[in-house]
Amino acid sequence: MTPKTIFVLTGAGISAESGLGTFRDRGGLWARFDPMRLATPEAYAADPDTVLDFYNHRRRGVIAAEPNAAHRALARAEARLSALGGRLFLCTQNVDDLHERAGSAAVVHMHGELLKARCTACARTSERRTDIVRTDSCPRCEAVGTLRPDVVWFGEMPLHLEAIEAALAESDLFLAVGTSGAVYPAAGYVRLARAHAIPTCEINLNPSDNADAFDDARYGPASVTLPAYLSDRGLQ
Ligand code: APR
Repeated sequence: MTPKTIFVLTGAGISAESGLGTFRDRGGLWARFDPMRLATPEAYAADPDTVLDFYNHRRRGVIAAEPNAAHRALARAEARLSALGGRLFLCTQNVDDLHERAGSAAVVHMHGELLKARCTACARTSERRTDIVRTDSCPRCEAVGTLRPDVVWFGEMPLHLEAIEAALAESDLFLAVGTSGAVYPAAGYVRLARAHAIPTCEINLNPSDNADAFDDARYGPASVTLPAYLSDRGLQ
């Protein structure tokens, strides 16, 4: 049976097969770097050059990466569901643009976007595909040394929460793909779905921290498990 509205939450695992590292797997980003020194407003204030270098390196990795079969499967499902009069609401924790480059038309980035810069003086954002350095000036207000990556750091509020929770409440199916279930509020969405009696499924390499909260699961690489799962629902 094809659901009418699907809420999909993605995490770093969906981009792993595109060569972008995850955070909490063995050898993950937070196993190699201290997030409190690189991914907080305080870290940026204390040592902007180190923080900017870290995100410049990640931005170059995103630009060099390509979407994989899992990203493309979601783009196909979005188009197919729309043609059937339904909707796929794609909420990602990822700051890369691989969903967009795979063809997803509507992507909600609750942790921001690495390919955008935000000015700490005027708070406006601008597209940013090159490194951010402290001598840069804001293209909007021309302030110098005020640009930061437009991503949500630890201790900052995730984005678009009201729209996300409203979309989740109206869904017929909740799908989590490639996320460890370690960071809230995203990690709580499966329980919010259950509270609305919405069927849930996790698609992950291994059982996540939230595995017990899901009705269903497919374990294995997302590039294999996600297209198969969506195909079983007539969405490929
Ligand atoms: N296919 C499917 N799942 C995979 C794959 C793969 N090829 N490779 C790894 N995974 C799974 C891992 O098993 C893990 O459960 O993806 C998950 C990645 O978990 P995390 O590294 O914790 O990433 P994520 O859940 O997105 O982290 C959430 O934490 O630090 C913050 O802002 C950061 O958005 C991030 C948030």
